[in-house]
Amino acid sequence: MKKIIIAVDGFSSCGKSTMAKDLAKEIGYIYIDSGAMYRAVTLYCLQNQIIVDKRINLPLLKESLNHINISFVLNAQTGRPETVLNGVNVEKEIRTLEVSNNVSLVSAVAEVRRAMVAQQQLMGNEKGIVMDGRDIGTTVFPDAELKIFVTATPEIRAKRRFDEMLAKGENESFESILENVKSRDFLDQNREESPLKMADDAILLDNSLLTIAEQKSWLMARFEETLNKN
Ligand code: DC
Repeated sequence: MKKIIIAVDGFSSCGKSTMAKDLAKEIGYIYIDSGAMYRAVTLYCLQNQIIVDKRINLPLLKESLNHINISFVLNAQTGRPETVLNGVNVEKEIRTLEVSNNVSLVSAVAEVRRAMVAQQQLMGNEKGIVMDGRDIGTTVFPDAELKIFVTATPEIRAKRRFDEMLAKGENESFESILENVKSRDFLDQNREESPLKMADDAILLDNSLLTIAEQKSWLMARFEETLNKN
């Protein structure tokens, strides 16, 4: 059967990754979390004092890009891919609030974006891929056959992240998470390099009031429609 590229873009913490992962699993496609790649670069910067007190050492970051190797490994138990930074599984470390609070700095750097986009495009060579992020439908795969743009209110997104972190035993206040969600929205939409923007040919999905099951069947319907069109 013909394989396509599915681009899932949208605001932070609106469940893009979960929906993209589940869709990929259901239809037997490869799932790539492009945000995890920016998070891994951020973790590297924090570990190597390239970022100190929210200040980024740009020359050092540019120099270091050659030493940052990001790949994914499938967790056999969950059936989901996990992020590997220079040979070390960092799936947990890249999800901390410290990384979340610094990732916008790193993902605004043109050289970082260029390096990540090039790797992401290589991953899509064979199609049969679901990739989620901010610029997948606009920059990484402007010709993707199916583009979804996901949104939900900031309060609902902060509540989802709060519950997620609580379940992991991480105790952050709802207010600090909401603050992080809003500030990342602003930075994602207003940066010069590939700002977050809905592609003209993307389909909008506001999942504020949808259950996971409702969202899943909506998505499967868009997938079937697209396959029939192509
Ligand atoms: O999806 P996420 O929250 O894990 O993404 C982490 C950060 O990476 C987010 O603040 C924006 C950035 N990002 C990006 O600039 N471009 C992408 N394609 C994916 C994520």
